[in-house]
Amino acid sequence: MAQPLVLVSNRGPVSYDDDGSVKRGSGGLVTALTGLASHRDAIWIASAMTEGDVQQSDEHGGRAFEVEAPDGGTYHVRFVASDPEAYDRFYNIFANPMLWFIQHYLWDQSNAPDIRRHEVEAFEHGYNAVNRDLATAVLEEIDGQDEPVVMVHDYQLYTLPAMVRAERPDVFLHHFVHIPWTQSDSWRVLPAGIRDEIFHGLLANDIIGFHTRSYRRNFLQCCRDLLELEVDMERGVVLCEDREVWVRAYPLPIDYEATRAVARREGVSRFEEQLLRRRREFQILRVDRADLSKNVLRGFTAFDIFLEQHPEFAERITFTAQLMPSRTDVPEYAEYLEKIEALVAVVNHRHGTPDWMPIDLKLRDDLEEAVASYKHYDVMMVNAMFDGMNLVAKEGPLVNERDGVSILSENTGAHEELGEFALSVNPFDVQELADAIYSALTMSAEGRARRAAGLKEIVTSRDPGDWIDEQIADIRAKARGAAASA
Ligand code: F6P
Repeated sequence: MAQPLVLVSNRGPVSYDDDGSVKRGSGGLVTALTGLASHRDAIWIASAMTEGDVQQSDEHGGRAFEVEAPDGGTYHVRFVASDPEAYDRFYNIFANPMLWFIQHYLWDQSNAPDIRRHEVEAFEHGYNAVNRDLATAVLEEIDGQDEPVVMVHDYQLYTLPAMVRAERPDVFLHHFVHIPWTQSDSWRVLPAGIRDEIFHGLLANDIIGFHTRSYRRNFLQCCRDLLELEVDMERGVVLCEDREVWVRAYPLPIDYEATRAVARREGVSRFEEQLLRRRREFQILRVDRADLSKNVLRGFTAFDIFLEQHPEFAERITFTAQLMPSRTDVPEYAEYLEKIEALVAVVNHRHGTPDWMPIDLKLRDDLEEAVASYKHYDVMMVNAMFDGMNLVAKEGPLVNERDGVSILSENTGAHEELGEFALSVNPFDVQELADAIYSALTMSAEGRARRAAGLKEIVTSRDPGDWIDEQIADIRAKARGAAASA
């Protein structure tokens, strides 16, 4: 594959503020792709999500340009600016919350969603319009290429593959979905026409990848239940309009070398000094986007129960929660942030003293501060209700220096790999979570060391280079007509 690899996703590796300053894109997708895009000859096509991105795109005549990311790495990025109203409908109504909520079982179905013209039009004139804009950029980038390969990312771009395939039947399309794939019935929330367009959009790919075997199984079952297609569950193949679509699981690893390099930075040491100065005897940590799926409220409720049931820990422990505000134009997210702040105030008021604040809430996105905290926690809480992978569950144990214990929701993708060495919890069972906090804090030194070593070994066994190589090996195998194997 001597031609540049074309990657396309909604969020790009960097984002520009109005003043021209650049920051790294947030979330697991960017973490996954940055290594790949900076090490190989690749063009990364992404939506212009801010005014600053649009300005950059205009300055480069809408073509790809080179970007130095603040955390290192050079990328060829092509920002695609969509009509602002279409983009708002795409991002704030259809992709988030509609698809995101379906794919994390977040709808409280007796109350929401109501599908009205507003939502249907958001799909037709928002979601599809933005997918069309990005598809056009893809088609321009692969123009003149023989046997082009395009790697499409995530739930924001389900209808793009069919648009590209219609113009370039020879293209090889590989689509990786970074979030869970839920069971068939959760998709019945969508009107049949929209559902069909989404599934047929995705099935225009040659290969569809997920983080886990269970998401892969759910997707295959959906193709049977909702589209009545012929499916080979064993080999992971869907037969669609005489084409074979391979469905695969590629669990995403972290770039452990890069994360270790961040842990050695001076900026991280400065944060460490501050936090060690203020540290109590025990430290619990969580680091997340402020997303409903992360289950932040139940995490604080469990801590509240723990403090109630174990008063001997009063004044000796802090629960630090570093949460990055996210998707704040979506009403459900704005409301969630308010509920988080209110609950923190209640728990701190109930248990705190004039010189002890049990929960330290930090609403900001600061990688160095997060990594400094990773190094010194005794307990890390990852209690997401459902989560595609959860890279924090891998990054924390990698750099932690205290044999910290991981509490890990059984509904995260990471649990398939790390469950054996974590304290597994049902994310809805707050008493179990409170008990897990207690078990983690009172675990023997040998127990902690054994688990910490197990986690470190797993998270250093593969890196994103391996992840991408596995996908490229499948692309090659399918392109030369090999039969699918499980
Ligand atoms: O990894 C899942 C994901 O939704 C990505 O698609 C996305 O870029 C990231 O999390 C963060 O979300 P957003 O781009 O909406 O801020």
